[in-house]
Amino acid sequence: MRLLILHDALSKNPTQDELDTLIQVKHIKKALKALGHEVLITKFSLNLIAMKKKILSLSVDIIFNLVETLEGSQLLHFSPALIESLNIPFTGGGSAGMMLSSHKVIAKELMTGVNLPTPRWIENTEEDYVSEFIGIPLIIKPISQEASVGINDDSLRVLLSVESLKEALSSKELFGEEFINGREFNVSVLSIKGKPVVLPPAEMLFIDYPKDKPTIVGYEAKWEESSFAYTHTKRSFPHTQQDLPLLEEIKTLTLKAFKLFGNKGYARVDFRVDTLGKPYILEVNLNPCLAPDSGFVAAIFEAGYSYNEMIDLIISG
Ligand SMILES: Nc1ncnc2c1ncn2[C@@H]1O[C@H](COP(=O)(O)OP(=O)(O)O)[C@@H](O)[C@H]1O
Ligand SMILES: [Mg+2]
Repeated sequence: MRLLILHDALSKNPTQDELDTLIQVKHIKKALKALGHEVLITKFSLNLIAMKKKILSLSVDIIFNLVETLEGSQLLHFSPALIESLNIPFTGGGSAGMMLSSHKVIAKELMTGVNLPTPRWIENTEEDYVSEFIGIPLIIKPISQEASVGINDDSLRVLLSVESLKEALSSKELFGEEFINGREFNVSVLSIKGKPVVLPPAEMLFIDYPKDKPTIVGYEAKWEESSFAYTHTKRSFPHTQQDLPLLEEIKTLTLKAFKLFGNKGYARVDFRVDTLGKPYILEVNLNPCLAPDSGFVAAIFEAGYSYNEMIDLIISG
């Protein structure tokens, strides 16, 4: 088949998380070629008329959609929306799912509506429940960013007055969420021939963290290879008998969340589990990173598939 990889254009001085797109393009192209496909590569542009013309002129059978950052993630759904309008099969989430899941507050409202547990949050400090968020650990984070952009140790705050909470949330781009101090899990799922299959849950371990260092996978843990956080966070796949009920529970929640956001493509759901063992969904990432060292790919390997098999499953939907 003839495939088009559609990816982000990089900014002038690309950051580590932007450069990651190119790593994915390289590996996916190699896998697609090994699977016997013809591969074309194009940068996505917000000039939608030109983009539409360009895509149509290439006459491809499938589009591999790797567009991951457009104004943070605010316009992420433009790429699948355009492809849907052209009626060309494509990988990953649909436009509605992408739009709703990449706005963290809307996603939390939707999840709450179907009884999916997500940490309590505050966006508008005029709400009368604002006092519930005073004096408890909060994480102040971007509404529409991915890849831990905008999350660092200072994002964890305990605010002692409504004024200081207002100050912390003065930017329209931020919201506050109750900090769940406990284990962190990522659960990956992909649709295989229209049926969602959940992969083995991964736990992110925080090794030898000093007592005063927040246990979060912030920007440095994800991208800054020389940082303490990067070298002291380690992915593992728990297997103990004792963890089985929790693992089953987060797998069930992952399936439900994947269905909520369109049941198409592949996703990774991020969880924290509180000290009583109750899991909370932090976010649902449709189209998570497919670089060889990513969480999704680690789960694929744990499930016994190779990288090329994964790409074949993804394009076969
Ligand atoms: N409410 C929370 N409780 C505990 N940790 C959190 C919470 N929100 C975010 N984190 C930490 O920050 C990381 C990134 O947050 P997340 O909401 O997944 O954003 P991103 O889209 O940038 O991955 C998480 O993996 C987790 O370690
Ligand atoms: Mg996350």
